[in-house]
Amino acid sequence: MRKPSLIHAAATARRGQALIARRRRRRAAEGSPPDYDEVIAKYAPGRSFADIGCMWSANGRIGFEAEARGASGVTAFDAMDRTAEFDAEHERRGSSIRFVRGDLHSDESMRAVGPHDVVWCTGVMYHTPNPLLALERLVSITSELLIVGTKTVPEAAAAPGAAIFFPGLPSAAREPYAQLWGSALRRDFDADPIRSYANWWWGFTPSAFIQVIGLGLDIVETYECPHGARDDLLVVARRRISLERDAELLDDARRRAAAGV
Ligand SMILES: C[S@@+](CC[C@H](N)C(=O)[O-])C[C@H]1O[C@@H](n2cnc3c(N)ncnc32)[C@H](O)[C@@H]1O
Repeated sequence: MRKPSLIHAAATARRGQALIARRRRRRAAEGSPPDYDEVIAKYAPGRSFADIGCMWSANGRIGFEAEARGASGVTAFDAMDRTAEFDAEHERRGSSIRFVRGDLHSDESMRAVGPHDVVWCTGVMYHTPNPLLALERLVSITSELLIVGTKTVPEAAAAPGAAIFFPGLPSAAREPYAQLWGSALRRDFDADPIRSYANWWWGFTPSAFIQVIGLGLDIVETYECPHGARDDLLVVARRRISLERDAELLDDARRRAAAGV
């Protein structure tokens, strides 16, 4: 097999850069696609709502919006502690949002959050080295709808369903994405277990992301590029079987595995 050369990597980077620039121009020409608030207004009223990864530079905004739209109970969750801005807004609104601190990948943290009708998670999936585990944890607390977003990379015509693993790329090939999304993509990878979530691990094409979410859930709708939002793809997906039935099936599988059946 031919080894990928630096020239090849640079050519790929140039093609990626051109694609990204074209997409940016197209978006600017299209005007404002739906923003997060429209999606929150559609799904939050009357439902319990959890915002997973709520804090950095958002200060719980999504949960506050869900509460204002009539969500029946809101939990905000993050690995970071609550910020002064979050506390001030909580106070100003007389909010009853519950904040839970923990790690999305931890079963224990998810038990502390507990089941919610709607689980929202934006700006997180490309920050996890293990998106399938993160998805499993999100599904474990979703009673009805999971609304999950990501930044995306352009589709590769020859490889539908492809995703880029950023730590494996030379910096020249990461550069076009750094220009689009920020300097974090230029930095070396931080191996500290909790701070490592600041790394950019995955660049999903839309088809890859939708396929991953569709593994265990029915896709209800997708929003391309929620305007002014952190992510450019938002997927609304529904549970196929109830949380209770899911738990029964899991218990049953564990019992049979323990019995060697
Ligand atoms: C880029 S911000 C997104 C904030 C907000 N959701 C938004 O869409 O604007 C990512 C947030 O997810 C949190 N986060 C990342 N990985 C996490 C993990 N494994 N467990 C809990 N929180 C995590 C970070 O601390 C940060 O607050």
